[in-house]
Amino acid sequence: MKRFLILITGLLLTVGAALLTTNDVHGGFLKSGNPALDEAAAPYNNFASCVKCHDGEAVNDGGGSMEVSGLPSAYTPGQTYPITVTLQQTGAIDWGYEFTVLDAAGNAAGFLTNPDSNSQIRTSGALEFASHKSGGTFEGTFHGPVSWTVDWTAPAAGTGVVEVYAAGNAADDDDGRSGDSIYNAALAAVEDGVANDEASAIIQVDFPNQLTGSAFNELVRGTDSLRTMVRVRNHAAAADTYTVVSRVRLPNGSFFPTSGWLTTDQLTLAAGESGNVDIVQAVPAIAPLGSYQLQVMVGFPPATLVTMDTVDFDIID
Ligand code: HEC
Repeated sequence: MKRFLILITGLLLTVGAALLTTNDVHGGFLKSGNPALDEAAAPYNNFASCVKCHDGEAVNDGGGSMEVSGLPSAYTPGQTYPITVTLQQTGAIDWGYEFTVLDAAGNAAGFLTNPDSNSQIRTSGALEFASHKSGGTFEGTFHGPVSWTVDWTAPAAGTGVVEVYAAGNAADDDDGRSGDSIYNAALAAVEDGVANDEASAIIQVDFPNQLTGSAFNELVRGTDSLRTMVRVRNHAAAADTYTVVSRVRLPNGSFFPTSGWLTTDQLTLAAGESGNVDIVQAVPAIAPLGSYQLQVMVGFPPATLVTMDTVDFDIID
């Protein structure tokens, strides 16, 4: 019921906005000159991304790719690094992106400067966002790859792990929200010169019910799937093979499965390399309603845990 109310409210707001203004909901410019902020697929905002509006298909399902590069495996505090977002997809012809850099607690990490001629830097609260700007969407460039670069200056010593969260749109240039494919990506760096875990893990989730204006971590039982992308980066000096396992904590505190793991994957990563494990789990109709936690652990069996990440979600009707 709650979802229907939200859906109706969302529809009314959308219709109202269309009547009152032009169809440029990014504000001020046609052709999406200003993508909304706080949509970089970061955990503090339930991984809200451009898919809230450009919702034709699931995130990362368009057959193309998005990559974040330039962030070293270990950063030197105070040093400046160019960070590049690259998008490509066969058939796409108009492009956009957004990223922010956070510490492990979700606070801004370092600062952004020197946007290239297709980019801009804006703030939302205490966070900084790099994004494309008006005229910076590579309109007419078929298939890509296209890329944008913004400098990031690393924070002071003692900050620890930092994480770039990014969302991008490989669009069809119809000046609308349909026919576009949204991508999410994330990349972590550890702080050089301090003791670090040998690998880091970042979870991003494509929550399917992210309607315009809101960000939810809710999944409808019997209908939705938990679509999780786990980014693992090897911060060691040599290649290694990691085992990535997951399990779910149920509302009553017990785990599913009761022993062993929901998924088990292996990733072999060169030094500094980052790789993905995708975990897609349909929510069964008999799942109890309430608060859940997905736990993803990276390590070496049988008993060496290197790092872990978790994400909370609710199962609703
Ligand atoms: C609140 C709804 C909303 C959100 C959120 C949103 N967009 Fe859009 N976007 C639109 C609408 C409406 C249009 C068409 C009108 C226009 O061009 O401004 C559009 C158009 C675009 C286009 C041109 C598409 C084409 O086919 O011509 C790009 C590129 C784009 N958006 C990028 C982004 C990116 C990148 C994000 C996330 C960081 C994002 N948008 C988030 C509503 C949204």
